[in-house]
Amino acid sequence: MEVLEDQKKTRGSFSNGLGFVLAAAGSAVGLGNLWRFPYLAAKDGGGLFLVVYIVLALTFGFALMTAEVALGRYTQKSPVVAFEQAVNNKKWGFIGWGATIVPAIILPYYAVIGGWVCKYAFLFLTGKRTAAADGGKLYFYDQIGLHLTETEDVMTNIDVMPMLWFLLFITATFIIVYFGVENGIEKASKILMPMLLAIILFITGFSLFMKDEESGRTAMDGLKIYLIPSFEGVTFTGFLSIVLDAMSQLFYSLSLAMGIMITYGSYMKKESSMPQSINQIEIFDTGIAFVAGLIMVPTVYCFLGEEGLSSAGTSLMFVAMPKVFGAMGSFGTFVGSLFFILVIFAALTSCISIMEAVTSTIMDRFNLLRHKAVTITYIMAIVLGVIVCLGYNKFFFSVSFANVAGGQILDVFDWVTNSLLMPIVAILTCIYVGYVWGTKVALSEVMLNGEKFPRAKLFEIMTKYVSPVLLAIILLNSFGVFG
Ligand code: ALA
Repeated sequence: MEVLEDQKKTRGSFSNGLGFVLAAAGSAVGLGNLWRFPYLAAKDGGGLFLVVYIVLALTFGFALMTAEVALGRYTQKSPVVAFEQAVNNKKWGFIGWGATIVPAIILPYYAVIGGWVCKYAFLFLTGKRTAAADGGKLYFYDQIGLHLTETEDVMTNIDVMPMLWFLLFITATFIIVYFGVENGIEKASKILMPMLLAIILFITGFSLFMKDEESGRTAMDGLKIYLIPSFEGVTFTGFLSIVLDAMSQLFYSLSLAMGIMITYGSYMKKESSMPQSINQIEIFDTGIAFVAGLIMVPTVYCFLGEEGLSSAGTSLMFVAMPKVFGAMGSFGTFVGSLFFILVIFAALTSCISIMEAVTSTIMDRFNLLRHKAVTITYIMAIVLGVIVCLGYNKFFFSVSFANVAGGQILDVFDWVTNSLLMPIVAILTCIYVGYVWGTKVALSEVMLNGEKFPRAKLFEIMTKYVSPVLLAIILLNSFGVFG
């Protein structure tokens, strides 16, 4: 009895609706918003991508998020137990296991990238702006431990520096999760999220007025590319690829199919308004992604031109942005430092939620106390994270399959979670909520306190019919079916 009481105490809950919203928004706003969203927007016709993204956020993203948060709060449990308990049948726990394996694989590589961001913040803070700006891709490779010989072969000597930065990042995450829901996660989110918002608005404020003296280009010209939908040369397959990009970006960005929203929902107080909280998270997440694009697309265009924009791709954050800060002169040291600190905050609040999803499952499933569960999660993440770091030297390989071209261990982890497991978990979640647990029970949880929920019908249609089909398309696309 005493042990159970203890367990209850350590499971914890967010102190109020705001606590839940800030923590969930903290989870949602991460590398996905600051890194992937802007380059997809630049690649996919700017304004056109934005319109598609917003429509999908209000329908597809909203329905999946509602399903997960409702399931979590209904059962007050993390994924595995939640899927079992909601229908009183242990056989459904396998979906929860899927939703737990995903964050267990994402956690190490997310923290490795978090380590890279810390390193870049450090480089800018210590005045290495010019080196980062001029060094380009090779400089970035050096930072992550991928060293090339003169003949461009990869050296297999182990580089411990990226591992140390990774350790720093994962340990910071561990400490916050160790302190629990209210004293760790909620407190950290309440401090970091307002700071993140302030920094991003501050940088946006002046980045839009940048001008490159040499070329005469202004950020305002780039803003047009970002905001005005361009249908020029858009074919049917081109449009399909924009929709697919927006869909997969959306559900990664909202932290769906990673067990996170079920877990955070389980800490949400019954008296908090779920419809209102979900709206706020959506607005926050989409808003920050939009503003991140407002900073990056116009400035990259201004300093690097149209070519810089189209060639930036995934290297946008670590190659193109340092070049932009380099072009700003000494002011770039300040802006670059601030920018990477902003990315650290965003990545940290997301990484916390990823670690919490795994920790909370271990707690609920194996009746362990938080400090034990989080330590197990931390150790697993360290082992896998070190392997990810070694993927750039000792264990280097370069594979190409499906939609991965020349990937290392990190890319394989990313593909297995993002492209394979997440769509599968999300399809199963829709089927489960739509037909097994039932949208009626889910909706009664959403409107528990008599709240109005104007999108109830939309939720039902999306969960039962539309989302599973859209997710199946994402899954097929992961195997390169649509080219
Ligand atoms: N939702 C988190 C992100 O966007 C995982 O990075």
